[in-house]
Amino acid sequence: MKTQTLLMPLDMHLHLRDAVMLENVAPLSAYSFSGAIVMPNLVPPVENRADVIAYKERIMAAVPNDYFEPYMTLFYKNYDKAFLESVADDITAIKLYPAGITTNSEGGVSSFDIEEMRPTLQAMSDMEIPLCVHGETDGFVMDREAEFMSIYELLATNFPKLKIIMEHITTKEAVDMLDKFENLYATITVHHLILTLDDVVGGMMMPHLFCKPIAKRPEDLDALLTVALAAHPKVMFGSDSAPHPQHKKESCGCAAGIFTAPIALQLLCEIFEQYDKLNNLQAFVSDNAQNIYGICPEFKEVVLEKRPFVVPANYSGVVPMYAGETINWAIESID
Ligand code: DOR
Ligand code: ZN
Repeated sequence: MKTQTLLMPLDMHLHLRDAVMLENVAPLSAYSFSGAIVMPNLVPPVENRADVIAYKERIMAAVPNDYFEPYMTLFYKNYDKAFLESVADDITAIKLYPAGITTNSEGGVSSFDIEEMRPTLQAMSDMEIPLCVHGETDGFVMDREAEFMSIYELLATNFPKLKIIMEHITTKEAVDMLDKFENLYATITVHHLILTLDDVVGGMMMPHLFCKPIAKRPEDLDALLTVALAAHPKVMFGSDSAPHPQHKKESCGCAAGIFTAPIALQLLCEIFEQYDKLNNLQAFVSDNAQNIYGICPEFKEVVLEKRPFVVPANYSGVVPMYAGETINWAIESID
């Protein structure tokens, strides 16, 4: 039987939510990942030290039996330096959302006036706090990410020492930025290594494949696959697994987000095997992230096996990608 061992898998972009949802989904990530960058878009957002510490405690309480490191983030505001100094030891990154661009982002940045942002971003740069960015404008949905490239360029050139992570990239334009600016990095989801817009709305409309940024064109998929399969040292896996209750997905106003946390590693094995690149998967799911963020997770060994696995229809009321379908890899053991 074909197997694949992954050491210390890391999910560099994860939504764990709060309360009952947190209790339901956190154990699923903690089971197979060593750690995750936890998104701050709660209601209200995680935006001060007390919020960070309390949220981290709630996460740890939800995963009592597994080793799992929640790498905490703050919701970006134009914070002052003294505040950043007070919170720096408690966070791994700060996540910037353009205002209103996606779920619970209403309090995000409404103007990318570099001079207004400079004190915060320069302090982050000096303190080596990475900036994670949801890079979409409010333009036409298929062009939103490509339109955001000029903002990445502005950020990257004004703060050349600031590590900027282009989160969940979906376009060839974003891939091209990686080699243009030394301080730009990216996360890529597993669903964006599989889907194009056709899968979402080309036949029947598939609410469980609807997310932001929306899946794009075949040429974008190819560009993402090229850098992910090569484990380009500036890209890392970030699932953007974003659970919503079933009724919020299967409704006349479908919430954005694809729930992949419990099947992400299995799907990644399937994709990397398909292209004969399993040798690069370790770098994509852990080593690159360790290098980029300078983190050192505790030991965890996940062994996956090539055998059919039927994806559960739902996990405590959250419908995963490929619910009820058979995928070709399964988790065999975890140490
Ligand atoms: O599809 C998405 N869901 N994209 C995001 O940026 C946010 C996320 C969520 O929080 O549900
Ligand atoms: Zn996200």
